Amino acid sequence: MDDARRMDAQAWQGVDWVGLAHALPTPFYAYSAPALRARVARLQAAFSPRPTLIAYAVKANGNLGLLRLLAEAGLGADIVSAGELARARAAGIPGERIVFSGVGKTAEEMRQGLEAGVRRFNVESREELEVLDGVARAMGRIADVALRINPDIDAGTHGKISTGRAGNKFGIDLPEARRLFSERATWRALRIDGLHMHIGSQITDEVPLRRAAHSMVDFAREIRALGASVRSLDFGGGLGVPYREGQATVPVEHHAALIRGALAAFDPHFDGDCIIEPGRWLVAEAGVLVTRVLRVKRGADREFLILDAAMNDLMRPALYDAWHDIVPLVSGRPMASYDVVGPVCETGDTFATARDLPACRAGDLVAILGAGAYGASMASTYNSRPLVAEVLVDGPHHALLRRAQSIEALLAQDEGETVWAVSPRATVRRA
Ligand code: LLP
Repeated sequence: MDDARRMDAQAWQGVDWVGLAHALPTPFYAYSAPALRARVARLQAAFSPRPTLIAYAVKANGNLGLLRLLAEAGLGADIVSAGELARARAAGIPGERIVFSGVGKTAEEMRQGLEAGVRRFNVESREELEVLDGVARAMGRIADVALRINPDIDAGTHGKISTGRAGNKFGIDLPEARRLFSERATWRALRIDGLHMHIGSQITDEVPLRRAAHSMVDFAREIRALGASVRSLDFGGGLGVPYREGQATVPVEHHAALIRGALAAFDPHFDGDCIIEPGRWLVAEAGVLVTRVLRVKRGADREFLILDAAMNDLMRPALYDAWHDIVPLVSGRPMASYDVVGPVCETGDTFATARDLPACRAGDLVAILGAGAYGASMASTYNSRPLVAEVLVDGPHHALLRRAQSIEALLAQDEGETVWAVSPRATVRRA
């Protein structure tokens, strides 16, 4: 299917982009409600009938309207901050469907997590266990804990989003996890009876996923033999999507099957929690960034297509050299080759280099595909560019999910005057 036809297919059927771009200032993110619903249904079907907590990784896209749609479809949330906890709760996700991950939770975030009754804390170090135990004890609560293991497996993805190697900051190596389980009675306010893993993101090869899942359940079997109970196995997220037409990925049904296989290898009668934390797979392909051509600039040896979207709106190409398909919403034009760039004052503000596209003119609309995950959620206001609008579309209908930030709102965080005050002195504590 060529790129232009992809914009007519399934998700975006019946959407009038020109009309929408009259109603909303460009750039804006558009999410397809039918595509989101279809992804959820396919994921649920893949794991059915095994009860599985699908804890959507909020970091992929924390827009409240999008979260509400996922929550209504029955999904839970994987969160990593107080902000994400607040989003999940505001979207109506109950604590019992929330798992709290992250390598650097603060004591205050732990307190809020306990207050909200999160199902489980995925803990990443002995130091974190100590802090969580203290927080839970002070509250008179027991925290349910899974240890995130680091299986030292290369996920075969971009180095910046690979998390399961020994040298990464994430997780606990197996010898240390073994020690922590044997010492688990030390932490009186913690119930340590779960395991968690997440070896990276945008994984397109089944082998590391299977190896990591089996490494976790092998370990689960081992600690159970030593007398620990295992009531929860969390297989993390990481499933990749085809950013380029034809790119090979792992079908979600295969992912589900390999998790079923791992569960069976652990214990065919396991009736504890099975948890997964997909982010990208659910939302990436359900989102596009709609942007307008500001101008076409002839450079010394190439042509630049200058869009009104920039690296601050969609950071993935600048940060990971990520490929996103780019589709000018035009017809009947000859082909041309462009470096597709934004207005930000950095050469890294480049969406694509030497990309063959239908010839564009100022004012044309251009869709950047695969932008539903880690697009809006990673946006910044660099170059004092306000955050853009986000809209949910369903054929001829649309619902504004987030207004475009105004310049006034952008400035409102800064104090209007510089007022000096004497800084409080820290009291010196002696050992
Ligand atoms: N669980 C944990 C503990 C995670 O750290 C992540 C993602 C997920 C689940 C969801 O992973 P997913 O299913 O989305 O692959 N900004 C990068 C991706 C960073 C992923 C961070 N952790 C990107 O744009 O490619």
